[in-house]
Amino acid sequence: MTLRLGYCLPVLCTALLSLPPAIAQNAPTTPPVAAPAPPGARTPYKPKNLKVLPDNVDLRKVMRQFAGDLGVECEFCHTAPDPVTHRPDRASDANPVKDNARIMIKMTDDLNGKYLTLLAARKDTDTITCGTCHRGEKHPSIFVAPPRPEGNRPPGAPPAAIAPAATPPAK
Ligand code: HEC
Ligand code: HEC
Repeated sequence: MTLRLGYCLPVLCTALLSLPPAIAQNAPTTPPVAAPAPPGARTPYKPKNLKVLPDNVDLRKVMRQFAGDLGVECEFCHTAPDPVTHRPDRASDANPVKDNARIMIKMTDDLNGKYLTLLAARKDTDTITCGTCHRGEKHPSIFVAPPRPEGNRPPGAPPAAIAPAATPPAK
């Protein structure tokens, strides 16, 4: 095997440098130097306690969305950071709201995956998110439809009588 490092592609060089020493020794090479990690690179956070989200989830994005959709800080669902080290323990399940949020994640998933898919012809293919219901609130508020001044006539039906002058709504 004649490998000339001078010509090898970066990919091949990496492979070469990671060869077991016995083989690597045969190659006429300059001393192997581990490729330096790009500046600012950190080992990605490995989640320890995911029970509903997939392992490859973009936690940063999803968690920020949860917080924004509910108008809360991380601690609404997670425990407060350690008072001494100030380090948060996001894997902890000590805050019961976290388990409730898991139920919400499953519910939202079912709404999208089980129920909306049953519609014969969906007009609106936007997925339901936490914000569809929560709209920036911890607990979604009850929707109260505005009053219908024209009564409950079916659309297109002629008016039965001239409606009496609308009384101004009591405030
Ligand atoms: C609405 C509730 C909620 C909010 C707000 C929230 N999280 Fe989470 N977070 C969860 C749930 C639920 C899980 C666990 C998901 C699972 O079991 O698959 C989780 C898991 C995590 C994990 C993975 C922990 C592990 O090792 O298993 C991290 C990291 C995390 N959240 C960070 C954050 C950060 C940072 C914020 C604020 C920006 C935040 N979360 C806001 C509910 C929330
Ligand atoms: C279909 C509407 C709907 C969707 C979608 C929805 N929620 Fe909720 N959520 C509710 C309602 C209603 C409540 C209030 C339940 C109660 O306390 O009776 C609630 C309550 C909560 C609570 C408070 C639980 C507690 O312990 O106080 C959390 C946390 C929560 N939702 C997180 C989420 C997250 C995260 C998502 C998206 C993954 C989500 N919700 C999607 C309707 C929804």
